[in-house]
Amino acid sequence: MSQQVNQETSAAGGVNRRSVLAGLAGGVAAAGLLAQPAAAAGTAAGTAETAGAPERDRRVEALLKQMTLAEKIGQLQLVGDETAARAALSGGGLGGVFSVVGAAKLNALQHIAVERTRLKIPLIFGLDVIHGYTTNFPIPLAQGASFDPAVAGTDATISAKEARSSGIHWTYAPMMDVTHEPRWGRIAEGYGEDPHLAARFAVAKVRGYQGDDYSAPDRVAACAKHFVAYGGAEGGRDYNTVDVSLQRLHNLYLPPFKASVEAGVATVMASFNTISGVPAHGNGYVLHDVLKGAYGFRGFVVSDYTGIEELILHGLAGDGADAAAAALPAGVDMEMVSTNYARFAERLLAERRITGEQIDDAVRRILLVKFRLGLFERPYVDEAAEVKAPSPAALAASRQVAARCMVLLKNDGPVLPLAKTVGSVAVVGPLGAATYDLNGTWAGLGTGAGTTPPVTVVDGIKAAAPGATVSYTPGCTVDGTDTSGFAAAQQAARAADVTVVVVGETAAMSGEAAARSTIDLPGVQQQLVAAIAGTGKPFVVVLVNGRPLTIPYLHDNAPAILEAWAPGVQGGHAIADVLFGVVNPGGKLPVSFPRAVGQIPVYYNHENTGRPADPANKYTSKYLDLATGPLYEFGHGLSYTTFRVDGLRLSGTRLPARGGRIDVTATVTNTGARAGDEVVQLYLRDPVASIVQPVRRLRGFRRVTLAPGASTPVSFTLTPDDVGFYDNAARFRVEPGKIEVYVGTSSAATLTASFTVV
Ligand code: BGC
Repeated sequence: MSQQVNQETSAAGGVNRRSVLAGLAGGVAAAGLLAQPAAAAGTAAGTAETAGAPERDRRVEALLKQMTLAEKIGQLQLVGDETAARAALSGGGLGGVFSVVGAAKLNALQHIAVERTRLKIPLIFGLDVIHGYTTNFPIPLAQGASFDPAVAGTDATISAKEARSSGIHWTYAPMMDVTHEPRWGRIAEGYGEDPHLAARFAVAKVRGYQGDDYSAPDRVAACAKHFVAYGGAEGGRDYNTVDVSLQRLHNLYLPPFKASVEAGVATVMASFNTISGVPAHGNGYVLHDVLKGAYGFRGFVVSDYTGIEELILHGLAGDGADAAAAALPAGVDMEMVSTNYARFAERLLAERRITGEQIDDAVRRILLVKFRLGLFERPYVDEAAEVKAPSPAALAASRQVAARCMVLLKNDGPVLPLAKTVGSVAVVGPLGAATYDLNGTWAGLGTGAGTTPPVTVVDGIKAAAPGATVSYTPGCTVDGTDTSGFAAAQQAARAADVTVVVVGETAAMSGEAAARSTIDLPGVQQQLVAAIAGTGKPFVVVLVNGRPLTIPYLHDNAPAILEAWAPGVQGGHAIADVLFGVVNPGGKLPVSFPRAVGQIPVYYNHENTGRPADPANKYTSKYLDLATGPLYEFGHGLSYTTFRVDGLRLSGTRLPARGGRIDVTATVTNTGARAGDEVVQLYLRDPVASIVQPVRRLRGFRRVTLAPGASTPVSFTLTPDDVGFYDNAARFRVEPGKIEVYVGTSSAATLTASFTVV
């Protein structure tokens, strides 16, 4: 393409300081950031935040004027325990407390802040409410598999209500780190490998937590984390280095954050990684220039746990004063756990290494969120109304959501669904009677949460088939080497009509600081499956895990595989709902499943090489010893019924680069004998561009439920935003030329058409 059309829509004038990353792409701050597409109009940011905004701003300014320097610096501190909170309140001052739970404890701390400090500024109370407070929902990666953002909305709405009733004002969620790294344990906390899918879920979750007005007694302030590119950790090792081009930063990692800011997210958390040599906590380009400048984010940025102090070990700062001098101007407003602002800000100000305006800006942002939370009007929570256990409605929602997240990877025969009239079922495998492992990472943090153990798979099956004889034999542990239990497991399988083998990972095997160098079934679990296969009796495998696993053996040898993820507090019931066909599975993979760890990264939205893989040509991009591509592609997932997608139509053949739109419509038909769900997926490819484009990019998806024989049209509207991309100067470009459209039921969709951007 010879020409480009730049979309210079919003001149965000916030680029007023030298970027810490100024060298990265030569003049990026000056050129690129002035060319972001405008924020969507009429978003939550535009409605909730504008109501009462001038009055709130006036109150913030009035309060700021009364504050001493020490009181201002106090607001920048966040501590993680009661002792530290009490000490800070009687000393320099304090902005907030996190990881303390219980309405009475939080009220007691709030009384000190509101009654015994000079300006009576309330504390903000935070907690990692990631996928549930007392009611645990499936892990976020599982939620992504639902391809239904309303699932994230349900989790967030119920979690917000429970958490706020308990005095929590602020959750450290949603996590929206796009990643190509299944070895990275934190893949469990996000929505997988696609920026569009992650953005849709992040926005649904922000809205679910915050509602239109997060001062409401059933809402909390959300936190978009981790800013940014944390999922790019080299080797999948947590906290590791990220070296990323500007185009990939803006096209892959930033879109969910941009969408969350447009949706009005209250706060953002900096990430532990470096971004092209500059740790996020000292990275003025991403925090100041992009987030606060180009995106116009008005909330506050919180550090991650000791993230400012860690600038020393990163090698950006020589000591704590240096670390504070890097982080505050870069845009970190509140310091979590470490105390470099509290200890050094006054000195740094005297030495002119930071400015009074930088301190005021950070304090202003923190106070604004406190005002929006209504803390000055209602600092305390009603202890009598604290939610300490899941309600029946919350449990029902968790069960329904969990079943909606499951992905049927394979079903030969078909073995599934099982008949409710089955005579006997052998449940085998170390996770068949697991409780808390079904919750996955970051669960059980709310008041009373740990007192509600998840329903086990064996109990779920017993409840679903009350007439059946159901046995349970573990066979082995999740990661041990002992195979002496195999004989009993085989005996149980021989004695039963069907065996359900439940294998996978414990909760501790994914999440933070839980990277794995191999991602196969841990321990001797694969041998256990082989032992059951050796009986010749029918069996199905249920996977409980927090990341993609390398399971070619299962694919070749198990008749059916159900990916249940870490399904939450109703896990056993939800799994049984799917196994017995009460729920017809309709989830899809939000992430590719590799064939082998050695081919990582393997992801659907990769760029072509000059030599795309060709089995007939040695000199093409592939491995000598492995088939090309993933074992299961992004978007893959089966059903107990079958679907056809056809009748692809475009409303036009030309998309004007300024203000154009094209409607893409296809018809989906349930061609089987059962009602079921299909996710119609729309992908685009730009075959010729000034920055080579991914072979496919997801730009739309819709999950529909259809009766047997029923059809429905599914439409998507494309605008120039859908075909554009960021270049290596962080400029958003919409280039003229052909765009290929693919519609189908996974990223391997073959139904195609095209249009031209003019
Ligand atoms: C994690 C964050 C979390 C914070 C507070 C950190 O270690 O990276 O995701 O919100 O701790 O618990």
